[in-house]
Amino acid sequence: MDFELKTLTRPRLCAEKCEALIVLMTDDTPIAGDALSQLAASAVKSGDFETKPGKLLGSYRTAGVAATRLVLVGCGDGSVKNVRTAVIAAMNTLKNSNAKRVVLSLCGLPHVTADVVCTSLVACGDATYSYAATKSKPVLSKLEKLLLVVPDAVKVKPGFDKGLGLVNGIALAKEWANRPANHATPVLLAGAAKALAKLPNIKVDVLGPKEVAKLGMGSFMAVAQGSEEPLRFMVLHYNGAAKTRAPTVLVGKGITFDTGGISIKPAGEMDEMKFDMCGAASVLGVFRALADLKPAINVIGLIPACENMPDGKAIKPGDVVTSMSGQTIEILNTDAEGRLVLCDALTYAERFKPRAVIDIATLTGACVVALGAVRSGLFSTNDSLAKALLEAGESSLDLCWRMPLDDDYAEGLKTNFADVANVAGRAGGAVTAAKFLQRFAAKFAWAHLDIAGTAWKSGAAKGATGRPVALLVDYLLDQADPSKPSPVKKRTQTA
Ligand code: BES
Ligand code: MN
Ligand code: ZN
Repeated sequence: MDFELKTLTRPRLCAEKCEALIVLMTDDTPIAGDALSQLAASAVKSGDFETKPGKLLGSYRTAGVAATRLVLVGCGDGSVKNVRTAVIAAMNTLKNSNAKRVVLSLCGLPHVTADVVCTSLVACGDATYSYAATKSKPVLSKLEKLLLVVPDAVKVKPGFDKGLGLVNGIALAKEWANRPANHATPVLLAGAAKALAKLPNIKVDVLGPKEVAKLGMGSFMAVAQGSEEPLRFMVLHYNGAAKTRAPTVLVGKGITFDTGGISIKPAGEMDEMKFDMCGAASVLGVFRALADLKPAINVIGLIPACENMPDGKAIKPGDVVTSMSGQTIEILNTDAEGRLVLCDALTYAERFKPRAVIDIATLTGACVVALGAVRSGLFSTNDSLAKALLEAGESSLDLCWRMPLDDDYAEGLKTNFADVANVAGRAGGAVTAAKFLQRFAAKFAWAHLDIAGTAWKSGAAKGATGRPVALLVDYLLDQADPSKPSPVKKRTQTA
């Protein structure tokens, strides 16, 4: 779909020919003399339309309006969050319709900021994404063009451009996350990473089993050894600033299918473990967005990708492996595999002398219990990094919540047979997983996002959400601001 941004007056909006015109109405959108205003005023007065967020009123071939369909949608006080609700509700009414050209007017909002425009685009992208890769008769959207109408296009152009980058990045993340494991193997996922190298400022290296063995990634290799599919380790580079500028490293968990291994998972909903590479998909999505947005920063993406399968060669509970850091790990539960692939990627990140390292992982069911589908779990040893990520979550409406890292949580990871065990007890499972990772992240400012509850939806709406691409992009764009200091190399919360 094509997006366009334009300034139009109310009378011109009424005269705009299109299959559908969507008009956002706040609690106090001013009433003027044009047909649209009159219609809205009388619908509110009669009680047939309310301006509560997401409330809809549709009409067909309306007098004084050139659009075939008119959709009035309430957006409350016009806050960014309510705009998102309104746009998604309105766009959903056009799903499976014949509308090719849709006009979305934000002119009724009191403040049409760059943020409002960006959010509207992202919401449009969200509502219109549809999965097709493995359908023989995909339902293709007829939508060709979305014209976004604002009072001052020049003023909000930066928000429009950012929105375009996000739409592309989020769609890419959803697409790879949604693909079933047999259509998104580590090799295929590496192909998706390589395809990004065609975009400006992006370079991609892909390592296979031999190179990974040479690096000494014994923990990552241990997870991969139970599968017929060979592992891949992807290294993405986005260069938008001088080489001397320290990069931010993003590490995405890329378990393309998680059976649990020998500690096998129950059958119910096991299909959803194709989403266990949503962290990796979000890294690919961020790089897609960076190529569009071209911020003046450097970013490295690391993706350890493999399957977690039970096999004659698979790791067994009690096996001890040696990680790239030299630390030995007793694998007490083969289903705690995410931390085993991430720990070696974290050690690999050291070579980039990063300003910060952020790992993104569908790591624990315990995080779903703790925070549900609303906020991702945020763990960090660095207060300024944590603050920046929390703020990026709020500004992008892609929320996270900080969780603790007290050393007492690491007690359960002690073992008689290695330096550390890969699991502790059931209690505080999201935190003990983060405590395991922290042992491999001592040499840089580090944050961990547990997206197990937020990366995909279950049930009838089963599918990837594209989170936390928006959060990460907001954080990274903020780093391009030269007035922002890099995270202070200071340990917080724990020694
Ligand atoms: N990929 C799962 C985490 C997960 C489970 C995400 C359910 C979303 C929904 C991870 O590899 C895993 O299996 N974690 C275990 C850890 C446990 C063995 C300590 C879990 O959460 O049960
Ligand atoms: Mn697992
Ligand atoms: Zn997993």
